[in-house]
Amino acid sequence: MEAIECIKTRRSIRSFTDDAVDHFVVNEIIDAARFAPSWKNTQIARYVILEGDKKALVADTAFKSFEGNATMVSKAPMLVVLTYIKERSGYERDGSYTTKKEDRWQNFDCGIAAEAFCLAAHDKGLGSVILGIFDEDAIAKAINLPAEQGVAALIVLGHPAVDPVAPKRKEVSELVTFLS
Ligand SMILES: Cc1cc2nc3c(=O)[nH]c(=O)nc-3n(C[C@H](O)[C@H](O)[C@H](O)COP(=O)(O)O)c2cc1C
Repeated sequence: MEAIECIKTRRSIRSFTDDAVDHFVVNEIIDAARFAPSWKNTQIARYVILEGDKKALVADTAFKSFEGNATMVSKAPMLVVLTYIKERSGYERDGSYTTKKEDRWQNFDCGIAAEAFCLAAHDKGLGSVILGIFDEDAIAKAINLPAEQGVAALIVLGHPAVDPVAPKRKEVSELVTFLS
């Protein structure tokens, strides 16, 4: 798929068929996503793939305040926990912050990686949606996340059962400022 077409036609997919997601394809998606840019090429993003009982545990324990996400995860074939290695992106070697954004570059890098992942999934004919509303501690516990890693976001993945219309976008004129 052509890049601009891929960017414009990717949609958040919240309903999936019962078809399993091929692990080979997941590896192909991550093979593409690992080319996303990152702070000093630190490549801190990691992908923990949940299916079956592990996914069910997360659906049952990690979305107390948001039933919509819990139902979606319980019905989807696969859930990706996007994690990151702490204290690399945005940090100096001595452990101090490089910029005023302090540790926020970690999440910035994961955001870029998440979009690269979702675009690659779309190119492979799979649907995805990034989830930001979840109980981070419950996720960390469910996947036995090592202390040196954090949870950035979740990505639900599967074969799309719907073909949603794009939510309205702002006009370019509202978004851009040219200065000289
Ligand atoms: C950081 C982030 C967090 C999000 N969290 C959720 C979520 O918790 N649940 C959900 O259904 N969608 C979530 N979304 C999906 C957005 O609602 C969606 O991207 C937006 O409405 C635009 O639709 P589109 O992705 O189809 O273009 C999230 C997206 C992003 C980037």
